[in-house]
Amino acid sequence: MERIFGRPIVTQEEMRTRIRELGRQITADYADKDLVLVGVLKGAYAFYADLARALRIPMRVDFLVVTSYGTKAKPSGKVKMVTDLTEDIAGRDVLLVEDIVDSGLTVQYLLKTLSRRKPKSIKVCALLSKPERRKVNVTIDYVGFNIPNKYVVGYGLDYQQKYRNLPYLAVLDTVDDEGQGF
Ligand code: IMP
Ligand code: MG
Repeated sequence: MERIFGRPIVTQEEMRTRIRELGRQITADYADKDLVLVGVLKGAYAFYADLARALRIPMRVDFLVVTSYGTKAKPSGKVKMVTDLTEDIAGRDVLLVEDIVDSGLTVQYLLKTLSRRKPKSIKVCALLSKPERRKVNVTIDYVGFNIPNKYVVGYGLDYQQKYRNLPYLAVLDTVDDEGQGF
């Protein structure tokens, strides 16, 4: 039983305002750096497109695709990169753009994997963070919104690969607060 388009938790207007702020902050921090903005697909696509256009510095764009092993009902917590970057990141300043940091395992895996390629720096920008759900300690350098422990969809985030195109962020009512039940 799917109930969609649940309660809005972040509106389009709130999203626009916050992304402009993040854009200003990142523009200042990376003014004299060699930025490669790395989008973590699929979830980050909407945030990435808006964030990139809020940055006022020359930069490279690149993407990778990750999946988590296991079933939805029983996630193993293991992460795999299914599509790699096309750009060389050695000596460059990498900013990872994520949709949401939940357990932190995806970000931990990506930081470990990409650090081996010797970037000059590597930082993380996540639209959303659920601090209560963290299983590993990762530093998120830029956070759009800290949100409570609810399963959210829209603005790139999915429930069973759907609802990513919802233009705002909503709490999906049929999924319990553990993100389980599917
Ligand atoms: P992690 O647990 O920090 O590794 O996050 C893994 C991935 O789970 C995120 O990148 C999202 O794709 C997905 N995820 C976590 N929480 C939610 C949610 O509330 N809605 C949709 N996807 C989520
Ligand atoms: Mg994701």
